[in-house]
Amino acid sequence: MTESKEPSSKAPDRGRTVHGEAANAGHRVLAPDDAEVEAYLEQALHAPPPLRVETEAAEQPDTVAVLDFGSQFAQLIARRVRELHVYSELLPHDTTMAELERRGVKAVILSGGPASVYDDGAPRADPALWSGRIPVLGICYGLQLMALDLGGEVMPSSRREYGPATVSLTATDGLFAGLEGEQPVWMSHGDSIVRPPEGFRATAQTDSTPYAGLADADRNLYGIQFHPEVVHTPIGRDVLRNFVVGIAGARQNWTAANLVETTVADVRGRVGEGHVICALSGGVDSAVAATLVHRAIGDQLTCIYVDHGLMRKRESELLRVTFERDLGMNLVMVDARERFLRRLAGVEDPEEKRRIIGDEFIRVFEEEAAKIGQIDFLTQGTLYPDVIESTTAETKTAQKIKTHHNVGGLPADLRFQLIEPLRYLFKDEVRTIGVELGLPEAMVQRQPFPGPGLAIRIIGEVTGERLDTLREADWIVIDEIKAAGLYRSLWQSFAILTPVRSVGVMGDGRTYANVVAIRAVTSDDGMTADWARLPYEVLARISSRIVNEVPGVNRVVYDISSKPPATIEWE
Ligand code: XMP
Repeated sequence: MTESKEPSSKAPDRGRTVHGEAANAGHRVLAPDDAEVEAYLEQALHAPPPLRVETEAAEQPDTVAVLDFGSQFAQLIARRVRELHVYSELLPHDTTMAELERRGVKAVILSGGPASVYDDGAPRADPALWSGRIPVLGICYGLQLMALDLGGEVMPSSRREYGPATVSLTATDGLFAGLEGEQPVWMSHGDSIVRPPEGFRATAQTDSTPYAGLADADRNLYGIQFHPEVVHTPIGRDVLRNFVVGIAGARQNWTAANLVETTVADVRGRVGEGHVICALSGGVDSAVAATLVHRAIGDQLTCIYVDHGLMRKRESELLRVTFERDLGMNLVMVDARERFLRRLAGVEDPEEKRRIIGDEFIRVFEEEAAKIGQIDFLTQGTLYPDVIESTTAETKTAQKIKTHHNVGGLPADLRFQLIEPLRYLFKDEVRTIGVELGLPEAMVQRQPFPGPGLAIRIIGEVTGERLDTLREADWIVIDEIKAAGLYRSLWQSFAILTPVRSVGVMGDGRTYANVVAIRAVTSDDGMTADWARLPYEVLARISSRIVNEVPGVNRVVYDISSKPPATIEWE
């Protein structure tokens, strides 16, 4: 991966927010739950653009490259391969054979894509891929491209075949070793192959195409029209395993234990005697990153956690117990509750709250960093989807979330280097490693939580009392959602304290108290979301417990808005 960035004189693009706005345009910061706090630390340190050093791990894992032709499933292919314990990375569709060989990849998978091979400017692949030197599997568009390039015939079609289909496997070797007969699969294509290139044989067919699978074993070229990466193709995992392990011979050693071991060795080698600093947010990414680095270099790591008082119940305490007591880390836990509250007093505007919180974070970090002295490295929990290289030369946009704010007038010499031990990992892999490292379930499986915390879930002014009310109500939501076994299937589930008061009756008296709203959503990435169809019994328990256990609340409502048009958070 080529990550070193030239310092630039203009403010660099910090990527896009969840709303598609430039991330440095103010308003919301991106969804990864640690991005914000880490970025504040960078800013506080006046860190110049980070030096991203390519490091050689002790033993490079066997790699499968997924070339991205624009399919919404391209990332999923890489994840499926990794589930087979083989490292896989997403690269632009025009990555050359020379580059693939330089990286030593064991196999190449061409993803699907929305284009037709006949479109103007349809994405192409380096023809050297068809040399047979590395096994290639074309999926959907990838297969059609391979067929067309090698002299086969692809028929353009105005109608897409989309959805479930049945494929009949006519070969029982190669991709389909151990499989047979009719199999349900997922199709999504417009064009179809009507004549395969010379040397290819048909390996699968459907009612609509005799060439749902093609193979030329002599040239190591394989293709399937259906999508093996989606759950609607039950044999997908076997097909991918047959290709990656059976045909390409990749070793299945991409495991959590190996990863921990190689990352620890790598970090130790890089850091030497240096001093490392890390901002903990309470989220899983920074927690796992810090734990890995701590395992490598122990006391040379200092973690800073700012308790801004806007966290959920018991969160800060869990953090202290885990990192300080159980792991024995150098943890600077800053009790900044008072000062955040003071600055938020009287503020009602959501964006003003965000601005104040960001600003105060930077101030606290500045003060703490000054006490620490020499700092050589910053650790960040950047994940693979944040640094993915799959955008092509034509479309390349800076998508790096944690790349830099250039601090005006600073010399370009690099005071810090970045350590990003998770930059090759997907979120689910980070969780697996968190478990491997012994981090508590509540931390490893935590739902995303916004940097400004409960402040943007209290509509109107944030006060100590209102924070206590929301914290108690929120705790009940989480508790009941967990008890119902729903926590992990929801993207987020939480309470909002509204400024509305309504009349109620409790015991013998009338009440005039707060309305709490409940929000629970399902989502894949936070960009769109649907309100969760929570069972009535769960809603009933949440409602009755909140009204009975949380003073000052006499009414509970459930938010049934999807995103868009509503956002997930209320502010
Ligand atoms: P919305 O509310 O825009 O949220 O639908 C999408 C995702 O982003 C999270 N979010 C934030 N995260 N700082 C953050 O770190 C913020 O200011 C912020 N606002 C929203 C939200 O929790 C959801 O997961």
